[in-house]
Amino acid sequence: MQILGIETSCDETSVALVEDGRFVRANLIASQTQLHAEFGGVVPELASRAHIQKLIPMIDECFFQTGIGWDDVDALAVTQGPGLVGALLIGVETAKALAFARRKPLIPVHHIAGHLYSVMLVDPERPVTILDAAGNETPTTDEPLTYPYIGLVVSGGHSSLVLVETPSRFKLLGETVDDAAGEAFDKVAKLLDLGYPGGPIIDGLAAKGDRARFKFPRPMLNRENFDFSFSGLKTAALKLVQETTLARLKEDEKLLCDFCASFQEAIVEVLLRKAAAALDFYELRSLAIVGGVACNGRLRRAVPEYVPGARVVFPPPILCTDNAAMIAGLAFHRAAGHDACTLTLNAEANLPLVAE
Ligand code: KG4
Ligand code: ZN
Repeated sequence: MQILGIETSCDETSVALVEDGRFVRANLIASQTQLHAEFGGVVPELASRAHIQKLIPMIDECFFQTGIGWDDVDALAVTQGPGLVGALLIGVETAKALAFARRKPLIPVHHIAGHLYSVMLVDPERPVTILDAAGNETPTTDEPLTYPYIGLVVSGGHSSLVLVETPSRFKLLGETVDDAAGEAFDKVAKLLDLGYPGGPIIDGLAAKGDRARFKFPRPMLNRENFDFSFSGLKTAALKLVQETTLARLKEDEKLLCDFCASFQEAIVEVLLRKAAAALDFYELRSLAIVGGVACNGRLRRAVPEYVPGARVVFPPPILCTDNAAMIAGLAFHRAAGHDACTLTLNAEANLPLVAE
């Protein structure tokens, strides 16, 4: 079964063709990072406009690259939410129009459910990575996890811990009460005048730094729940920048790298310790870490230290950030019962993650 997926929830326009829910035939992503960089964050109106310009040419390109045509497509899938409502609307309305015109079923998909599914996709050139209990890394194109598993979703918009029972049955265990992990990276990078998006820049500087030099708080670590909070960490970073002065941080590279490494370690430790606590609580050993922040180098290397004994799976970086392959892949498991195009489908900015 061939599913055409569309993802426009934030600042990446993405179109993908996925076969039988697993095999990625094409996964095109047009990032708008350059467009938003000068504003230091995503500007919703600009995001929507760029999605409009890119979407149809990208669908054509997807067909051109794969040789697959409309006749071979069994269904369409689209991200219904959560996300920026204007951005989501472009994807949803385009998908509805195409499904109606081509007489194809249309399957709405939850963005976070898509991220959680991203570890199940097979792209032979970009396999998922399994970290075993001893910390050995193995690339695989086999199904890397069996259900149930714990999912840690960490991106610019989300930090959530989820018990994943089947591709579309979830229990939300906890989420951020304020900033998302990626948002904390981006905001602190902005404080340090490093550029946007901040996560990869801080990751690069932190690799040369001493993560024990500065003491940053480990928010909510001792609370007996699985929620996160990163805004206090951002305030601590602001205080340290003010005490140290931005000028000194800018002229002393070692100081800047130590700052980044120490800040990053606080986020990594909180994320991984909470994930470890969720594994213990549910007596599970399998963890999938997904979303843009899953690209973080230290997050990957710190797994044996903070989540000992677990089997931890990371998607390849291209499937960590927003992509339509995860949407098309998951839709395969929800295809039954979707025989007609749903013209009443609406984008939902705050779509809850419930059993679908
Ligand atoms: O999943 P994603 O592409 O979009 C959202 O749904 O938000 O995630 C983007 C986020 C940004 O906040 C970015 O700074 C962060 O992921 N990110 C990273 C790294 N690469 C991307 N954060 C830390 N380290 C990285 N290497
Ligand atoms: Zn995302």
